[in-house]
Amino acid sequence: QLSSLRGLKSGTLRLACVTTAKYFIPHLLGPFCEHYPGIDIQFTIANRQQIIERLEQGMDDFYVFSHLPEGLDLDVIEFMSNDLVAIAEANHPLANRNSVSLEEFCQQDFLIREQGSGTRYAIEDFFKQQQHTPNIKMTIASNEAIIHSVLSRLGVAILSAHTLAFGEIYGVKKVNVEGLPIQSKWSFSWTKAESLSPIAQVFLSYVETEGREMMRKAVQF
Ligand code: PGA
Repeated sequence: QLSSLRGLKSGTLRLACVTTAKYFIPHLLGPFCEHYPGIDIQFTIANRQQIIERLEQGMDDFYVFSHLPEGLDLDVIEFMSNDLVAIAEANHPLANRNSVSLEEFCQQDFLIREQGSGTRYAIEDFFKQQQHTPNIKMTIASNEAIIHSVLSRLGVAILSAHTLAFGEIYGVKKVNVEGLPIQSKWSFSWTKAESLSPIAQVFLSYVETEGREMMRKAVQF
């Protein structure tokens, strides 16, 4: 598939991804760029709200979300699952328990992403459905800073399992909390009204074939 499209010229592919997608999108881009050295990639990473704003302004070819925006006329392909899991520092009392009730989890200091984050949106929605309220101690606008804060025992958190690809090294443990993980799916989306450039079309067919498998391989946890 890739080699049959090798004649493609130069140009720019613009991708906009929510923060958690940065753990696997680069693995998709490596082989693609190797086959199409003439193509420049503009790769933007921001939270869900900021990516929605880019989408509304038509700034990019593709937008990667796990919680799609509502009310927009989009074409969408889903490509991989995204589980949001509870985490604690490896020696935290909850970290080595077989199971933890949601009630008990809610008594812990909880670290959460900023307003506008899709992760936060999914967590708020989950607690609302479960009719529980987490004990929010800190709002932190970065997955990595949340992990380091968990390590420093500032509290527990819920993050996409993709952020924990190196969980062993970090010394962070998944906690088996009742009702978790929160499950969602990653998708590539683009505005229906705008036609895809030839480069975007080639990239899309790559994502739908080899790319899908490459992303899965990149996120073994
Ligand atoms: P976030 O996005 O980086 O805004 O938390 C993740 C998502 O949309 O699932």
